[in-house]
Amino acid sequence: MASAARRPLPPPPRPGSLPVRPLTSRLGTSHSLFTQTLTDMADDDTVTELTQEDAPIKARGLEGVIALESSLSSIDGDTGTLIYRGYDIRDLAAHATYEEVIYLLRHGALPTRSELDAFTAHLRSERSLPGPVLDLLRNAPDDSHPMAVLRTAVSALGMYDEEAEVLERAANCRKADRILAQIPTIIAAFDRLRKGRDPVPPLDHGSMAHNFLYMLNGEEPHAAAEKTFDVCLVLHADHGLNASTFTSRVIGSTLSDMYSAISGAVGALKGPLHGGANQEVMRMLLDIDEQGADPAAYVRERLADGDRIMGFGHRVYNTMDPRAAILRDMMRELSEEAGEMKWYEYTAAIHDAMEAETGIAPNVDFFSGSIYYQLGLAPDLFTTIFALSRTAGWTAHLLEQWSDNRLIRPRAQYVGARNRTVSPIDER
Ligand code: COA
Repeated sequence: MASAARRPLPPPPRPGSLPVRPLTSRLGTSHSLFTQTLTDMADDDTVTELTQEDAPIKARGLEGVIALESSLSSIDGDTGTLIYRGYDIRDLAAHATYEEVIYLLRHGALPTRSELDAFTAHLRSERSLPGPVLDLLRNAPDDSHPMAVLRTAVSALGMYDEEAEVLERAANCRKADRILAQIPTIIAAFDRLRKGRDPVPPLDHGSMAHNFLYMLNGEEPHAAAEKTFDVCLVLHADHGLNASTFTSRVIGSTLSDMYSAISGAVGALKGPLHGGANQEVMRMLLDIDEQGADPAAYVRERLADGDRIMGFGHRVYNTMDPRAAILRDMMRELSEEAGEMKWYEYTAAIHDAMEAETGIAPNVDFFSGSIYYQLGLAPDLFTTIFALSRTAGWTAHLLEQWSDNRLIRPRAQYVGARNRTVSPIDER
């Protein structure tokens, strides 16, 4: 019967034989409109194949690709400039607190005194963890990586937030506040629990930096330590479309929820090529110290072995990361005040050796680790501090993504085999 007859399938296409829209001409030489163009293509029946020759973009690691528009932060890799919402990072580090920066990233303007007071009061009111999440931390193996614990606990928070699945902006802002307020409590509570101590309940006063150091150490921090820590939080709050921020936006673009997006971002930040580098830098400094090695010789040897030196290099900066320059000066001051110059001297020697051997400049992770170490933090907590701060950026990026959402869905250039047929299992 004609109606039941199935039309024969067309033969599989020969590579390179199908019509491909001339995307390269639409894109020019830049990679802008990447997302829009490729998702346009995915909706277009006539485009079923990208060929080796016609593929518009094949940027390994998406280098140089402009995937979306954002008005949150911008990096000028040639001049070593970083701005948040138009303000230079140096200006913000000198004159704004972390809470002001969270507000700035989210709302586009620095808060007035009364706006800041209301915002910080609200953040303070959200610091406590739901009981089951605290139980989860109690039950986590003591030797778990704190980033694994943080990733899991953020995900768990979503199960106890009645608004988790409500995607309206006001609810998303409230969730962002909760996540921002609760991440410090998670990190501090787990660190104490794994040391056999009771978690310290959060304060109902003080800045996020003050409260975090208090919950970690069980005593109120000195003003200088709080200030140093607060500047570190300001410096790490946002950084363009870095890997973890992109991860959060990809997850957000599916209209998944904020907890999923932030736990995904924590997972991306954990890697040593991203936020995990600060812990590795400290490991290297401790190794040098333990061996009594000459830092410059140590670096030369590692390079000769083909190793990367953590805390150096960056996808966007061709010069020194401005955050690294601020942290380097802070580290020198901290070392002078503490009367302990060893770590500063090691980092200075490594910096000089890397400059001479490779010309590759340090990034933010090179100096942050030794600052946290001097503030008494365990090295495996360093990346969680980065996450604590970057949550300001992740949540602001999610709100920006959802204000004009489009699914982020690029394509891969297929380079695998073709035209294979399935042989019966016993004949393979
Ligand atoms: N130590 C030694 N060599 C390095 C290096 C480092 N830290 N970073 C980059 N290079 C070298 C690479 O070996 C490569 O050399 P080659 O071309 O001879 O192979 C070249 O510089 C380019 O590196 P590539 O990995 O292509 O650059 P990228 O843009 O993909 O990588 C990073 C950027 C950050 C992943 C990279 O610089 C790195 O691995 N740094 C160490 C980890 C780190 O500090 N991460 C925190 C980033 S804020």
